[in-house]
Amino acid sequence: MEKLMNWVDARFPLTATYKAHLSEYFAPKNFNFWYYFGSLALLVLVIQIVSGIFLTMNYKPDANLAFASVEYIMRDVEWGWLIRYIHSTGASAFFVVVYLHMFRGIIYGSYRQPRELIWIFGVLIFLVLMGEAFFGYLLPWGQMSYWGAQVIVNLFATVPFIGEDLSILIRGDYVISDATLNRFFAFHVIAFPLVLLGLVAVHLVALHEVGSNNPDGVEIKKHKDPVTHRPLDGIPFHPYYTVKDILGVVVFLIAFSAVVFFAPEMGGYFLEANNFIPADPLKTPEHIAPVWYFTPYYAILRAIPPILGSQFPGVAAMGVSVLIFFALPWLDRSPVKSIRYRGPKFKIALTLFVIAFIGLGWLGILPATELYTWIARVLTVVYFGFFFLMPWYTKNDTSKPEPERVTLK
Ligand code: HEM
Repeated sequence: MEKLMNWVDARFPLTATYKAHLSEYFAPKNFNFWYYFGSLALLVLVIQIVSGIFLTMNYKPDANLAFASVEYIMRDVEWGWLIRYIHSTGASAFFVVVYLHMFRGIIYGSYRQPRELIWIFGVLIFLVLMGEAFFGYLLPWGQMSYWGAQVIVNLFATVPFIGEDLSILIRGDYVISDATLNRFFAFHVIAFPLVLLGLVAVHLVALHEVGSNNPDGVEIKKHKDPVTHRPLDGIPFHPYYTVKDILGVVVFLIAFSAVVFFAPEMGGYFLEANNFIPADPLKTPEHIAPVWYFTPYYAILRAIPPILGSQFPGVAAMGVSVLIFFALPWLDRSPVKSIRYRGPKFKIALTLFVIAFIGLGWLGILPATELYTWIARVLTVVYFGFFFLMPWYTKNDTSKPEPERVTLK
């Protein structure tokens, strides 16, 4: 065995990589619950790619065959129903995990210097993930697939000057059609997953370059053992965090299986009833709503009234509501990173933001009545207030001094 390892190591840095990134990679010893979601996001990524490969073996990207091929997978392909439910549940699980992962970044200030690039790669991952989910949703060619895509692609048509051409470029046609289905299939199964994998790789390279933040927001590299040069507040990733992450994986898989086996449609939130009806270009469903993970942005879109008959302001606000996450490292002026040492202003702002985000998500599912639209307007103001007022309330907050070393709570 030793001889074999030496042979490999002389040709490929296997042992060196194992040491640098696992057995001698030091992570803060005070990771908590919130640190499960990075490894879980990796797990869901693998689940989606593997289940996606098996779905592709029987799916037909053709407007005349797509819907029936999905029904064939559900009824006739051996274990096909399981593969499909794993993939559809995986899509929602991905967003649950990624939203919690991003929330951790916000509460512990993980986007702050020197981790800005980890965060920027993360936001890029988030954007690509949204595209990936959107393209995938068209593939079953149900009523919601068709009309959801119609609504979203038409948003691009509102962009001044180039909008009309842009929407034709995306569809490959004047309406959603077979040409659209083919290109969305190409994006969903190869283009976007490739980009996603590349971004996840650079996300982790950047993470291992600077090292993880932690719930205290202190830099563990500041205090090293004078002899071994190991961070005093760090522990080797393997075995400590590999074991911790396996626990997370087990608990996650229990919850995931419960949904896959007992509630794969999740009352219409993961798979909508209208999508079990084949796409009909001549029949618009009465109520079109995106899947739950898009609804906060959809509610922002609907909350902004048209100006001079143009829907573009709403579309622009929706775009900014996602892109604003890029600016977070530069909007935050607090002297401390972690919420543990921040003052009341940040805590209140964050609480209001969470209420606004969940509230908008809820309103995005409901029909846009006048009352709901007004509530969505208020919540949209709160949503943007969290970001645009951040330089002010983080600078003037009464933060507590950050400790020198990590604390174990
Ligand atoms: C496919 C999606 C993603 C995967 C597989 C992934 C993976 C990971 C992993 C394995 C870690 C280290 C473990 C941990 O800290 O939990 C991590 C850390 C981090 N991720 Fe992600 N991530 C993803 C998406 C995102 C997104 C969307 C953001 C933000 C917009 C983000 C921001 C961060 C930050 C700031 C850290 C460092 C956290 C800290 O040290 O406190 N990630 N990511």
